[in-house]
Amino acid sequence: MAEKTFKYLIVGGGVAAGYAARQFAKLGVNPGELAIISKEAVAPYERPALSKAYLFPEGTARLPGFHVCVGSGGERLLPEWYKEQGIELILSTEIVKADLAAKSLISAAGETFKYNTLIIATGSTVIRLTDFGVEGADAKNILYLREIDDADKLVEAIKAKKNGKAVIVGGGYIGLELSAALRINNLDVTMVYPEPWCMPRLFTSGIAAFYEGYYANKGIKIIKGTVAVGFTSDSNGKVKEVKLKDGRVLEADIVVVGVGGRPLSTLFKGQVAEEKGGIKTDGFFRTSVPDVYAVGDVVTFPMKLYNDIRRVEHVDHARKSAEQAVKAIKASEEGKTIEEYDYLPYFYSRAFDLSWQFYGDNVGDTVLFGDSSPTSQKPKFGTYWVQDGKVVGAFLEGGSPEENKAIAKVARTKPPVENLDVLTKEGLSFAAKI
Ligand code: FDA
Ligand code: NAD
Repeated sequence: MAEKTFKYLIVGGGVAAGYAARQFAKLGVNPGELAIISKEAVAPYERPALSKAYLFPEGTARLPGFHVCVGSGGERLLPEWYKEQGIELILSTEIVKADLAAKSLISAAGETFKYNTLIIATGSTVIRLTDFGVEGADAKNILYLREIDDADKLVEAIKAKKNGKAVIVGGGYIGLELSAALRINNLDVTMVYPEPWCMPRLFTSGIAAFYEGYYANKGIKIIKGTVAVGFTSDSNGKVKEVKLKDGRVLEADIVVVGVGGRPLSTLFKGQVAEEKGGIKTDGFFRTSVPDVYAVGDVVTFPMKLYNDIRRVEHVDHARKSAEQAVKAIKASEEGKTIEEYDYLPYFYSRAFDLSWQFYGDNVGDTVLFGDSSPTSQKPKFGTYWVQDGKVVGAFLEGGSPEENKAIAKVARTKPPVENLDVLTKEGLSFAAKI
């Protein structure tokens, strides 16, 4: 079987891989030195588009429109770009075995890939309801969303089930973005999630109340405090009903499940140190194995700002960690050092006409400021998180670029605050002063 050797090999061809390739090109890479191996059939693209414009009935996004690095305002890296740089894109190729001691990877088709330096960028995979044995969860039209193939299946189902009924299982990122996308496509949408309010890993009850009210006004039904425990299907094996734990039964033509992600570290289990469910790295994204780096969703890394080690499943970190790893690789070749990664968490989402950004840490007391009425013409509101007398996190819906910049600065500088009532009254003007 074929064997290929590269100086630098990236396993995984998602967001982090694309940004790493651009960084290699910036710092200098010779033709034939770098390869990206991806299970997907397409060059790296901005994954966030899949749950947004990819599903719109109008103004639809399609490749090559959203290849990296357009998401952060950079030049689009088309497949030709990799060719011009002499970077090999090895697509539709799944690595099924890794031997880090022998510095080799083996694909499903049996090819061997050797490397001097490896970057693990395998990202996350979805948690499936079949993983915990939910009855009937393998029925057709029970869909998940991670990769472009999944998005294509969704688009097909949306077309086939015009004006049909959709049930969205999960109240996190996928739940909120997909409910909106399906509603925009005129489906009758019901969301189901176990918690008392949506997106509980970030939202306070006050923030969530706005989105739940806004979604309800758009005609989306929300069922909280229960989970899907089973599905029935028709004679073609297509999903027909969702059975809830509280006894209710919902009709469904399409079910979209977003019950969380899991870092794809399985290939390297037992060969590399892990922590908090991810591959453990230092502030240069070096793993416990020499010449092996890891970036993006799959890593647990030192979060200097909070003196903690964490995993982040968002695109900004995927981009920045990839750039940091490549800079570290290049610097170490030249016997130089670079600054440690000093990441300020940044998450965002968009749905309907809404758009929010969050920076920092969501711990401590909270204040809600601004106009958070779901019926407002132009809602603009936010929340600060305050810990030990300092503002450590900030959320803003409907902010302008300058306002978003201002809340980012608040989260980075952690200004002191004496009185929560004053902070509530000041709202955005507090950020503008920092
Ligand atoms: P990513 O998942 O991008 O790439 C991993 C790649 O590795 C994939 O191409 C996969 O096929 C490949 N791979 C895995 N195992 C392999 C193997 N064994 N062999 C070969 N290839 C393999 N974040 C945010 O901040 N704002 C947002 O709006 C969104 N929106 C969003 C929408 C949707 C639908 C999803 C699924 C995710 C988001 N995210 C997001 C999260 C963001 O997309 C995510 O954090 C980054 O894509 C992570 O980048 P990585 O490169 O680490 O993984
Ligand atoms: P998530 O962790 O955001 O949300 C999971 C949700 O699943 C929980 O909030 C909970 O409501 C629900 N849940 C858990 N078990 C359940 C059950 N048995 N039945 C019903 N609901 C259940 O995960 P996700 O929304 O699936 O997103 C997957 C990945 O994609 C994450 O890494 C996420 O960061 C990423 N993503 C990010 C964005 C963004 O940043 N804007 C957008 C889409 C996806």
